[in-house]
Amino acid sequence: MLTPTAYLTSHAPELLLTKPAILQIATAFQTDLQKALAHHPSSLKALPSFLGVPTSQETGRYLSVDFGGTNLRVLDIELYGQGRYTIHAQSKVSLANAGNIDCTASACHSDTLFDFIAQQIADIAQPSMPYNLGHTFSFPSHQIDRNQATLLHWTKEIKTTGVVGLDINQALHAALLRQNLPNICPVVILNDTVGTLITAAYGNPAADIGSICGTGHNTAYLEQRPPNAPGPMFINLESGNFDQLPLSRYDCLLDAQSDKPGEQRLEKMVSGRYLGELLRLAALDLLHNTVPKDLFLQPTAAPWSLTAEQVAAWLLDQSAIAAWLQERMKLILPEQLAALQLLANRLCTRSARLVAASHIGILRHIDPALEKNHHIAIDGSLFEKLPGYQEAIRQALTETLADHAGMVTVGLCKDGSGVGAAIAAALATASRNK
Ligand code: BGC
Repeated sequence: MLTPTAYLTSHAPELLLTKPAILQIATAFQTDLQKALAHHPSSLKALPSFLGVPTSQETGRYLSVDFGGTNLRVLDIELYGQGRYTIHAQSKVSLANAGNIDCTASACHSDTLFDFIAQQIADIAQPSMPYNLGHTFSFPSHQIDRNQATLLHWTKEIKTTGVVGLDINQALHAALLRQNLPNICPVVILNDTVGTLITAAYGNPAADIGSICGTGHNTAYLEQRPPNAPGPMFINLESGNFDQLPLSRYDCLLDAQSDKPGEQRLEKMVSGRYLGELLRLAALDLLHNTVPKDLFLQPTAAPWSLTAEQVAAWLLDQSAIAAWLQERMKLILPEQLAALQLLANRLCTRSARLVAASHIGILRHIDPALEKNHHIAIDGSLFEKLPGYQEAIRQALTETLADHAGMVTVGLCKDGSGVGAAIAAALATASRNK
């Protein structure tokens, strides 16, 4: 048996990401980004969005649908230009409590999913008003124009059958017609990272990187010279799949028990879907190595039973850790509480520093000498709510960019993915009417 302190001394350093480690990851990320752009094998993708920088003059009323795997959001939104907008009506349903649909099960079929989405749209749309609709669909998709995207594969442990290979907006359009909603026309489809970035760029010309740090993780950026395109375009990197990373024992355990081992390695180290499970694995490892067997109660803790919300609670309050331990152990020592809090802290800080490393990789690609101002727009529950997360990203950028750190700002772009769908719909409508 080890003491919790001895356990931490030997295992916790695996979770530390030093400045040289961040720089090494940034270099590997930049290399993979450039390979993806050149269509060479890479753990990143360079998926074109067919969307460029908004002029800030985009106006009008649009519907937007935001399907990310955790929630489904529908917005009826009016754009006024210069970053201003009003949301006339909105709905948000958690897919975990969505009656007869469970998209994490392969028994769920594509028609059930799209009918469900269309029903939520029907609840928000005015019956006879014509709408152009922007669709934020937050999964890796192959796009051939603004309105045509096919799902490459699911992420975030979603398993609904019959969607891979489907033209997503065509399927949505068909479902809208089944709901008797011919007045609603999907005109654009985009990733949530692109939505977040476009929303930030609507009001801030320096915005050129957009990330989601929520249930999933991914980043898009503004490429000035995209291959085969006449001008600048937002590119979705599907960076959650980046794989040149220093893995800890917990990452290997989590990957082995995940739905798709070997895939989405960065996402599995960073995002809210996985952070709770990483902490559960780390906590159990610590207990098994530091607590005599006769002090355990049964059951210990089912896989995936620890959520990102609980991780946030553990960061703030050792009594939340004690409550978790009370169900599993006869005797709790203050040293264990402190050790578990340190593990929670290390995992969250590591997540933020990994995200920052990927941003540095992108910055090196778009502005090697860091001569211009850049704004990194981030949305998602981790960035918004996890204590210390935003500061940890800023700290990592300050540490590594040194004198140039002042050129880079990072900020929350709340609800950017949904609002971005409306801005993208305005862009798509304007170019269609030209
Ligand atoms: C998906 C991305 C998405 C990200 C954030 C990942 O699992 O592959 O397309 O942007 O989650 O929602």
